[in-house]
Amino acid sequence: MIEKINHVAIAVSDLDVALEHYKGRYGLAPVSREAIESEGVEEAMLEVGESYIQLIAPTRSDSPVARFIERQGEGLHHIAYEVSDLVGTLEHLRKEGARLVDDAPRQGGGGTLVAFVHPRDGLGTLIELVET
Ligand code: CO
Repeated sequence: MIEKINHVAIAVSDLDVALEHYKGRYGLAPVSREAIESEGVEEAMLEVGESYIQLIAPTRSDSPVARFIERQGEGLHHIAYEVSDLVGTLEHLRKEGARLVDDAPRQGGGGTLVAFVHPRDGLGTLIELVET
């Protein structure tokens, strides 16, 4: 069902500062950067082997990422697993009684389809499922 870790997402309050940090400390530059207005976030992807680090920053104060940072500060936000059949995976999870944030796939960054599984169903970790 899960094929690999697509990305690990870190919530940051300032994307430019975070990108400078990653470049200076780890020599990583973003391969893409994109604002997703419907979510109120701007995200940058840093390539690490066959996976990515996703830095996500709020673009407005009422976005979920802004509330996340307010509650617990910057840090690990979610882990994204890549699946080949997102609709089938969601169906399986529903049958398992999983608590889903998204009942159906929706548009993610870079032309992907995504759906989230609630942290209370993921051992305290927000899980994103990605179909590329
Ligand atoms: Co993500």
